[in-house]
Amino acid sequence: MQNVQKVQQAATTVRERLGGLDADAVGVVLGTGLGRWAARLTEDRLGYAEIPGFPASTVPGHEGALLKGRIGGRQVLALSGRFHLYEGYSPEELCMGVRTLAAAGVRSVVLTNAAGALDPTFDVGSLMCITDHINWTGRTPLAGPNVDEWGPRFPDMSRVWSPRLRELAMRVALEKGVRLERGVYIQVPGPQMETPAETRAYRMLGAHAIGMSTVLEAVALRHMGVELLGISCLTNKNLPDCMEEAPLETVLAQASRSAGQLGELLDGIIVRI
Ligand code: HPA
Repeated sequence: MQNVQKVQQAATTVRERLGGLDADAVGVVLGTGLGRWAARLTEDRLGYAEIPGFPASTVPGHEGALLKGRIGGRQVLALSGRFHLYEGYSPEELCMGVRTLAAAGVRSVVLTNAAGALDPTFDVGSLMCITDHINWTGRTPLAGPNVDEWGPRFPDMSRVWSPRLRELAMRVALEKGVRLERGVYIQVPGPQMETPAETRAYRMLGAHAIGMSTVLEAVALRHMGVELLGISCLTNKNLPDCMEEAPLETVLAQASRSAGQLGELLDGIIVRI
């Protein structure tokens, strides 16, 4: 069930504690191991424990704070630390952060994540602009009575990932010499990694990268009419005929190695959103 009051209370706390938000403020959600970029957002911060209704982040590589700052003059609100189904949170709980950003007035959000590459032509360490997604969780944050003030009962999903922002991301990547793949991201519930047979199946479904986040947040944000960009950091490559283990340490280490390029890309995109 949606919890409108909880989200409104959290949004009120954010507005009161972080002060006025610009109409063109950009929201960013930082994926596993990608928190370093946010160290530059130094204007203000609010720990998740201080925001009513926010769950606590239980995963290594996820800090648990809402950070406020500026990148090239543009106001940014970043969720450093996100929530996942595999932590035991419901879709509504794990969307609290992004719903709160939208309810506080943010109209554009960049969702980032660490993901496994499924497309064999992608290299570990590359970034991927999400062009579309597959919700393979069997869950949705929109179950239960619709909240009409947030969005329609049957929200359109034909263009979840803003064509305008995707084009901007590709342009910035080209200018900065950052390799940016394009592809379909599939969200699975996790926490177990995929078997070779599952990996083969996800490839056949048309996915190019796989992870345990992002899609449910995207559904909730599109429901609220927020413009979205998604960037995956490809931390490992899953080839069904020669599967390699991808433990959390590998994912974190690779995410940290790619964080510089992701940061450069984010900087260039955010000022022009
Ligand atoms: N599978 C699922 N989630 C992930 C992966 C993966 O290979 N890499 C990073 N997050």
